[in-house]
Amino acid sequence: MLNENEVKKQICDIGKRIYDKGMVAANDGNISVKISDNEYLCTPTGVSKGFMTPEFICKVDFNGTVIEANNGYKPSSEIKMHLRIYKERPDVNAVVHAHPLYATGFAIAGIPLTAPIMPEAVIFLGAVPIAEYGTPSTDEIPDAISKYLQSYDAVLLANHGALSFSDTLLNAYHKMESVEFYAQLLYISTQIGTPNVLSEEQVKRLYKLRKSFGIKGKHPADKLTE
Ligand code: 13P
Repeated sequence: MLNENEVKKQICDIGKRIYDKGMVAANDGNISVKISDNEYLCTPTGVSKGFMTPEFICKVDFNGTVIEANNGYKPSSEIKMHLRIYKERPDVNAVVHAHPLYATGFAIAGIPLTAPIMPEAVIFLGAVPIAEYGTPSTDEIPDAISKYLQSYDAVLLANHGALSFSDTLLNAYHKMESVEFYAQLLYISTQIGTPNVLSEEQVKRLYKLRKSFGIKGKHPADKLTE
């Protein structure tokens, strides 16, 4: 089991990072970490992720029932979305939800990130689909993301934002950075011209590289035999 106090500090650090990088405005976004099979630490609802201290962090069980929360703090209103990911992806130990400007712009325009425009995006993400719109805090978002969970480690949420998940909190955060960087590159290259997409052959070679690197997590190319 992970050291709880250390994880609380890590959640505050990553919260500050997403806030300072402009990936969340005001009180937006939420973060969670699985610390044991039935214990999850998560950010509280309605606070700026840029100014949290460890006492803010709440603990819930697998059903979202509060195990621990200091006075004045309640778990994120989106905890069900996080718990669905842990339920359907036993390899995942951390989830980050943010509203990065460019990725959210694509989620609002209804344009998934699929064009193979640079090696790192192809290797680490493959593509980023858009899960259909759901009202935050209801079962609609967990239900909408479910069908993407076995092939992706990041999804856009229609008209809402982005979600990334991985084996560690730092890796989940890095996935969010990669999604936003990919969205920025796609946007910029479309503004200044027409992006040159990599050929099928070039993409296949990148998939092979991913396999040889032994990268953890899911990827849309996992099911391809070649
Ligand atoms: P919470 O403050 O309840 O975590 O919600 C923030 C948010 O971004 C909802 O999408």
